[in-house]
Amino acid sequence: MKKKKRLEFQRLIEEYRGEGTLPECPHFGECGGCLFQDVPYENQLLLKREYCNGILAGLGGVDRIVASEPYRYRNRMDMVTAFGRVGLRRAGRYRDVVDVTTCPLMQARSDELFKALRGPVLETEGYDYLAHRGYLRYIVLRQAMFTGQLMVSFVVAARENRLEGVVDAAAGGVDSVSLLFNDGLADTSFGEPFATIKEGWIEERFESIRFRITPNSFFQSNSAVALAMYRRIRDSVEGRVLDLYSGVGSISLFVAERALRVTGVEMVREAVECALANRDLNGIANAEFICADARAYLRERQDDFDTVIFDPPRSGMHPKMLRYLNDSGPRAMIYMSCNPSAFAAELRSLDRYSLQWIEAYDMFPQTPHLETLALLMRR
Ligand SMILES: C[S@@+](CC[C@H](N)C(=O)[O-])C[C@H]1O[C@@H](n2cnc3c(N)ncnc32)[C@H](O)[C@@H]1O
Repeated sequence: MKKKKRLEFQRLIEEYRGEGTLPECPHFGECGGCLFQDVPYENQLLLKREYCNGILAGLGGVDRIVASEPYRYRNRMDMVTAFGRVGLRRAGRYRDVVDVTTCPLMQARSDELFKALRGPVLETEGYDYLAHRGYLRYIVLRQAMFTGQLMVSFVVAARENRLEGVVDAAAGGVDSVSLLFNDGLADTSFGEPFATIKEGWIEERFESIRFRITPNSFFQSNSAVALAMYRRIRDSVEGRVLDLYSGVGSISLFVAERALRVTGVEMVREAVECALANRDLNGIANAEFICADARAYLRERQDDFDTVIFDPPRSGMHPKMLRYLNDSGPRAMIYMSCNPSAFAAELRSLDRYSLQWIEAYDMFPQTPHLETLALLMRR
């Protein structure tokens, strides 16, 4: 977190902690994953509203932050394996790892799996991400909230399976087990799937729509909150729909019943393949998915759509992308974002559109992150 943002959060924590509350996690304070476990949840929502409205100054702000379950909400947790420990980075110290025994943000089944894996993992060679030496880099645990299905992926720096003991500990109660190869310098928990020990995917379900998720595909971190947001998006969709940054097609497929047709654009091929498989799995005939850079796609195809939905990565959108969107002239634009600062700046630049509403959702309780959603209509 940038220093200015951290100081602002420190100020808000002091203001909203009140009597305080007991953190559920034994690692709270040392682990960098959470910031607010000692602030009562209802106060976290007030704190985030004040923070959010500071950023949205001049745009109208939000009346409330839509709440989540405060614990056991996360679909995904990436546990780093380094320096003889397995867990998350120490608060403010990227070079250090806290040896985590349990994480109450994870859903229950994935936390239980993590506990079962810890012992065998600690007996396996980890990966020193400072010296770039070693074998096991990350364990990625994913649990689909509405189906309960469980996936574990092991990110390793050699194209070999040296994980027999760990895999044995995982395989029984898990729906999908994969090994991903990644020997790059970038510290990421993605990689090329080179061994599928079990299935290679899990399924999530939003209402009647099923989503197949593979190890490298993005899926929203909190299914209950994502579903609430997707319902709002679906209510505002009309005609020909473009879904930029479409991932495994979750928004596209969820809104397809209200659309004439939907085109999803996503740059990760594995996610596009998932989206196509998901379309067929659900028998949805009016959706297509294109593997392309969103900006390159929009440059060529600006005026074919009535509704454009965009849900970019945290870094936000390129200024040219915003210009294309502003000039392209769809009737409605729906902007979903996990970065309120980029969201606010980008909304201000869409001057041919008028803002109908903004909403904010607590996708990530106990942490400073939040998700925003806006509807814009052509002036
Ligand atoms: C925040 S996720 C949104 C996924 C999806 N809308 C959902 O709700 O699950 C952002 C997605 O944008 C994709 N992405 C990132 N940069 C992109 C680009 N320049 N063009 C197209 N897709 C991109 C990522 O691979 C990721 O799947």
